[in-house]
Amino acid sequence: MALYKLFSCNLEVTYKSYFLSKAMIFTLFTTIINIILPFIIAYRGRGFWLKSESYFERPAAHFTYDYLLLLETDDPSQPIICSNEESLQNHGEEYCTEFEVKETYCKDNSKTCMMDFKFIINPPLDRTVTSVVLILGLDFQLKATCPLHMQSLAVVTKDFAVPPSGLKYYGDLLLQQVEHLPCIKYSVDTKYNQSLLNFNKGVTDNVVDNIMKSYFERTVTTQVKTFNSRATNGHTGAIDIEVHIRVPEMEILYIPSVLQELKWAWPQYLSLVVVFYWIINRIKRFVFNNRLLMAWEVMPWKK
Ligand SMILES: *[C@@H]1O[C@H](CO)[C@@H](O)[C@H](O)[C@H]1NC(C)=O
Repeated sequence: MALYKLFSCNLEVTYKSYFLSKAMIFTLFTTIINIILPFIIAYRGRGFWLKSESYFERPAAHFTYDYLLLLETDDPSQPIICSNEESLQNHGEEYCTEFEVKETYCKDNSKTCMMDFKFIINPPLDRTVTSVVLILGLDFQLKATCPLHMQSLAVVTKDFAVPPSGLKYYGDLLLQQVEHLPCIKYSVDTKYNQSLLNFNKGVTDNVVDNIMKSYFERTVTTQVKTFNSRATNGHTGAIDIEVHIRVPEMEILYIPSVLQELKWAWPQYLSLVVVFYWIINRIKRFVFNNRLLMAWEVMPWKK
């Protein structure tokens, strides 16, 4: 009857030597190489220690009912201003005749997917509107990995080459980050949770410039990216402004935690250690088997 090999195990041959002998220094040296070299290779290979992570989330964004609509006319000293802040409006009641807002929720959850704004402006007949700036106040919240609550803005601008009778604007709300979010677990980032549209009463000069200046100083902002905008021409008197802003999923960049970095770095390091361990073991076996260094060989049956 033939026999089949079912299992095998090695006999352990031990090599012994004195403290600080050549053989010991050799063993120490190879062990250190086995630990350090994989680390150097993994580190030099880039992407070992992550400094950046990102994920996608649809924010909870709502219109705060703070707004400023400024129409420049051919008379630069007399812009038309419509706002929820009445002290800013010059003849507001006369010119800003209608304002409507609609927020539409997404199908699957309770977040806003679309914001629609509609303004009807009746400028004085002797003036031509040349450009429009619309600033909308938003309450913006991230809830998943990096909780954040801020009061941000959506700004829409448009210059008119010829006198307009209306504007149809379509755009996407985007998150603009100057740097990564610090992303601290279980703590909501409220650094920018102050509204920029709390107007100083009586100050009506350069309102837009002042708002934009302080907004530009922030490291996290929201902006509106134009999808399409179209002005209709005509001297009909009333100007019909329609603005539609979508709230898409956004990519959020953040600094990963140390634990997250380790989780990523550990397997890279370990996979190299295994390879080096195998190679170094071969070298050691060769050195000791061939008696290249002084060491006593202890056979298992001689113990
Ligand atoms: C942020 O500000 C809003 C409005 O001022 C407030 O209702 C909200 O509670 C604030 N959020 C946090 C987390 O403090």
